[in-house]
Amino acid sequence: MKAKALLTSVLLATSVLSMPSLASAAEINLYTTREPALIAPLLEAYAKSTGTKVNTVFMKDGLAERVASEGASSPADILMVVDAGNLVDLAEKGVTQQIESSVLNEAIPAQLRDGKGHWFGLSMRGRVLYAAKDIDLASFNYEDLADPKWKGKVCIRAGQHPYNTALIADYIAHYGADETEKWLAGMKENLARKAAGGDRDVAKDILGGICDIGIGNTYYVGLMTSGKGGEEQVKWAEAIKVVLPTFKQGGTQVNVSGAAVAKNSPNKAEAVKFLEYLVSDEAQKIYAEANYEYPVRAGAAVDPIIASFGELKIDTKPLSEIVSHRKQASELVDKVGFDN
Ligand SMILES: [Fe+2]
Repeated sequence: MKAKALLTSVLLATSVLSMPSLASAAEINLYTTREPALIAPLLEAYAKSTGTKVNTVFMKDGLAERVASEGASSPADILMVVDAGNLVDLAEKGVTQQIESSVLNEAIPAQLRDGKGHWFGLSMRGRVLYAAKDIDLASFNYEDLADPKWKGKVCIRAGQHPYNTALIADYIAHYGADETEKWLAGMKENLARKAAGGDRDVAKDILGGICDIGIGNTYYVGLMTSGKGGEEQVKWAEAIKVVLPTFKQGGTQVNVSGAAVAKNSPNKAEAVKFLEYLVSDEAQKIYAEANYEYPVRAGAAVDPIIASFGELKIDTKPLSEIVSHRKQASELVDKVGFDN
């Protein structure tokens, strides 16, 4: 009797333990260019709450090409990249598929996802103003970057960097190419130094007295302030304040990290479930805090450093429209000799 009872309880325990994996029996394959450390906490939380294992293939570049070359036998379910331009490229290369999900559509503002459901923004970063602390600035418009009052006072990385071509492309979406060319030429006149380096160098050069204002991404302020970038960068961050600029007729220019369901996903239903999890309050908090990004879901928690910048009002122009002006933006950078 005793032995039988023991056996029964062992069997019960075994079946209970193995139930989650039997019930879902799910594994999905994620191809991503994001750093492993940013993704790991999300995948752990997802496995814990659903029993679904997410196998990850990290690659620095060539993601779309790899999926395309794998063709119909590609094991990829989810493709996850940074920059709206890369999301659009995935769709244009034909490696994504259309997803109809009210969960995704309700959580993600319309301008941050593809109108046809081929890709979805999951976290945001703003392209914002870093200003010396003693400068009296409560608000700022991107248009002001060309104002002669800032002559010799502006620092920015290369105009050809994708972060800047996206900002310039947004300007084109608002004003057209001719006005954008004038704006770029005006900003060029205001540069304190050659347009080069990284966004963090803007803060460094404000500390060094080289410039008064400049443009950088929001998450770098989190990285610098937190000390994750080292002692010296804490001082750079302490030298600046962040102002969330807007277009006069719009909001702050943002870019996204995002994801798509692969065209030949072997586990489409599971892939959609995973994407829907990624816009949940829990996942949005984990993901946004891992890299000091903004959640795309309204009301999801923001890191206190990022929240301290004030309320982000995202620009009205759809990312897909902004991306369509990228090439023209790059041509204008050359035309005005912005990086010379
Ligand atoms: Fe960056």
